[in-house]
Amino acid sequence: MSQIVIQDVEFSYRGQQDKALDGVDLEINQGEFVAIIGANGSGKSTLAKMMNVLLVPDRGSVTVEGLSTSDPDNIWQIRQQVGMVFQNPDNQLVATMVEDDVAFGPENLALPSEEIRRRVDLALQVVGMDGYQSHPPHKLSGGQKQRVAIAGILAMKPDCIVLDEPTAMLDPMGRKEVLNTILRLNQEENITVVLITHFMEEAGLANKIAVMQRGVVTEVAPPREIFSNTALISEAGLDIPEAVKLAKELQERGISLPDIMTADELVEALC
Ligand SMILES: Nc1ncnc2c1ncn2[C@@H]1O[C@H](COP(=O)(O)OP(=O)(O)OP(=O)(O)O)[C@@H](O)[C@H]1O
Ligand SMILES: [Mg+2]
Repeated sequence: MSQIVIQDVEFSYRGQQDKALDGVDLEINQGEFVAIIGANGSGKSTLAKMMNVLLVPDRGSVTVEGLSTSDPDNIWQIRQQVGMVFQNPDNQLVATMVEDDVAFGPENLALPSEEIRRRVDLALQVVGMDGYQSHPPHKLSGGQKQRVAIAGILAMKPDCIVLDEPTAMLDPMGRKEVLNTILRLNQEENITVVLITHFMEEAGLANKIAVMQRGVVTEVAPPREIFSNTALISEAGLDIPEAVKLAKELQERGISLPDIMTADELVEALC
């Protein structure tokens, strides 16, 4: 059974005529790294909020490890299993010390203070922020703040993390730090990752990409398949990653190259 099962989900925001989600189907398996891409307003954030019960479907169903999000009795269990990280880390960090921010979630679980301390230290290690325990969050760089926000989620020991454009407000350096952290969570901590992103290079790192158009998931496939479907990409108002584009142009000029997904792969192939 898939970890998250979204079936024929419809949803309209209060007072809105148009459906933000109009029959979404998507399955996410334990340990997968799934990217969700789509034009502005296609419904990505709305779908993300369905995964940890910030919103519930008007019609259709969302289940997390077999628990329906439509049953109010399941809310807290699901929220513990599925953590959310948003675009702006400033909105997620509230304490005056990094360790207090990371401890916020586990404290709400009423865990013993020793266990909380252990979880906080471990979470900060995983995101590469060990040693910053007593730093004030507002003095950190954007990438560091976002990693602390991720540590706060990690300290809850979730099975799955949903990140809604977590790198959108970061500089290239911060983006790289956060992306490496996300990859580590998935590959080393075996946490399921759902990454919503406008950066096609980031989506290219996922196991599979879901493409959204006007409230519907129109395609789910591995990145190579998605980015070679130029009709789909342009219809969805998206672009293919620069490295993929460049590799295609080189191939058209007779340079033989393997399948390219990232700039690193292109550099390696050319060298
Ligand atoms: N709080 C809200 N109230 C009313 N309508 C909303 C609200 N949030 C989103 N919408 C509408 O729902 C639709 C889907 O929005 P959503 O934010 O899920 O898209 P998105 O794919 O995340 O877009 P973006 O790439 O800009 O973040 C859009 O038409 C949007 O205008
Ligand atoms: Mg959004």
